[in-house]
Amino acid sequence: MKIRKLSAISSTNDYLKELYAKKDLDDFTVISTDYQTSGKGQGVNKWTSKKGKNLLFSVLVKNKSLEISNIPFLNFSISVAIYQVLKQYLSQVEIKWPNDIMAGNKKICGVLIENVIRKSVVNHSIIGIGLNVNQISFPENLPNASSLSILLSKEIDLDLLLKELIFSIQKQISILEEKQFSILKNTYEEVLYKKGTPSMFKSKRGKIFMGKIIGVSDAGLLQIELENGIITEFANKEVKLHTS
Ligand code: BTN
Repeated sequence: MKIRKLSAISSTNDYLKELYAKKDLDDFTVISTDYQTSGKGQGVNKWTSKKGKNLLFSVLVKNKSLEISNIPFLNFSISVAIYQVLKQYLSQVEIKWPNDIMAGNKKICGVLIENVIRKSVVNHSIIGIGLNVNQISFPENLPNASSLSILLSKEIDLDLLLKELIFSIQKQISILEEKQFSILKNTYEEVLYKKGTPSMFKSKRGKIFMGKIIGVSDAGLLQIELENGIITEFANKEVKLHTS
């Protein structure tokens, strides 16, 4: 594995994407930075992080012959890889669909995967990971954010943690390459946040309803059992857990 560390950069995802468009790079090339000036979150969100306190990195995963329909299993593999490392540090870690990592009710890690498709298969993927490690205060507009350091009351070695995460990602990607999709999905579902717990949800149209997460489909849709017993599937952004 090759890790390139930069002190500041716009976004590790954009940097790695642009670098790979210009020259060939090894599989699992990693770009890591202390600070991003335009860190990207899911959708229109930004990802902010205090300089030098957290892990901000992107991993290149290339030529895995992954069909477009199997992209959800790539998402599962990355969430599971991060989960398995963080489980060594924290007693309570879960994956919140589609790929947030939660410690209790606090988000400690976000994932942004960008896939480049060629001839109907995934040519390569840029796996962007923002993990809150040693930051001990967060802006007021992020009341649900936390970090390893807050939860463990100690400083964590960033370089060691980065290596552990990359090894774990390599391991899960090899399971993906072997097309052992059910192993990835089962592990993901075992640690799915709020699975089996009656919860309140809010639909894209603003409708609040009760239901229970029962799992995810092979297409990566969230399966919620409604109060009338009907199981409904939702795509990303169609529904979210309603907390207040
Ligand atoms: C989310 O909204 O939960 C996804 C956050 C992903 C943030 C990481 S930080 C490293 C990489 N570079 C980016 O610009 N974003 C991802």
